[in-house]
Amino acid sequence: MSRLSIRGIEKTFPGRRRAAPTRALEPTDLEVRDNDFITILGPSGCGKSTLLRVVAGLETPTAGTVTLDGRPVTRPGPDRGMVFQSYTLFPWLSVRDNVCFGLRERGVPRAEQLAIADRYLAQVGLKGFENHQPSQLSGGMQQRTALARALANDPGVLLLDEPFGALDHQTRELMQELLLGIWEQHRKTVLFVTHDIDEAIFMASRVVVMSARPGRIKCDIAIDLPHPRSYKVKTSAAFAAYKERLTEEIRVETIKTLNMEA
Ligand SMILES: Nc1ncnc2c1ncn2[C@@H]1O[C@H](COP(=O)(O)OP(=O)(O)O)[C@@H](O)[C@H]1O
Ligand SMILES: [Mg+2]
Repeated sequence: MSRLSIRGIEKTFPGRRRAAPTRALEPTDLEVRDNDFITILGPSGCGKSTLLRVVAGLETPTAGTVTLDGRPVTRPGPDRGMVFQSYTLFPWLSVRDNVCFGLRERGVPRAEQLAIADRYLAQVGLKGFENHQPSQLSGGMQQRTALARALANDPGVLLLDEPFGALDHQTRELMQELLLGIWEQHRKTVLFVTHDIDEAIFMASRVVVMSARPGRIKCDIAIDLPHPRSYKVKTSAAFAAYKERLTEEIRVETIKTLNMEA
């Protein structure tokens, strides 16, 4: 089981020197059920990364609590795997050793580490690249390595912050299918931040839209598209209807962010 409760989370960053403090999150509540795939959409700067970092235990909230299966989250842990937009592999380690990293930290025997690493690397299509260095890989391959590294610890929860944001469009679509396929197989609880509406709808069981900063949850829409989902669903009428609604919701918030008239 991996049930996340986000209750009354607020975050204000203190201002440096004479700068005013930044209120990043208003009191925010979100119940994430076991096996939910939630995508979080919102304008730039609305607090999406802050929310994810609080859930990861990388940021302490100003108020509120996050619990995972009833236990309060206070620091990062192997029960929550993270993938960020920027490539965060250890450049001095091979692809395989990057994936083994968390397993080694937890004292898993070496032979078992290697077996697990190679299994996940095969799953993300990197068989044959185990001994490469990250610098020898394309961006998409580096993010697949990061995904394998997050999955190798078998976390109940995956926290993904615009993980495909730096990839070209075609690679990005294939990565979405890859991640969705993994989720359909392993049924992890996923929180996935993006500002791409198609990406948000395609993978999600629920799309959550955040308001302009200070962020709060503005709407929460169940995505009732059948599984297994293929890219073909993106041209369906149901998909278009979700897209129309979400485009409108985001547009209003983006206009606020830009201080323009609606
Ligand atoms: N460590 C920090 N110190 C001060 N301000 C921060 C810090 N991290 C984020 N912020 C501010 O909080 C707001 C929300 O940021 P962020 O969560 O990164 O937004 P998003 O991911 O939605 O683009 C922004 O105004 C940002 O400048
Ligand atoms: Mg962000």
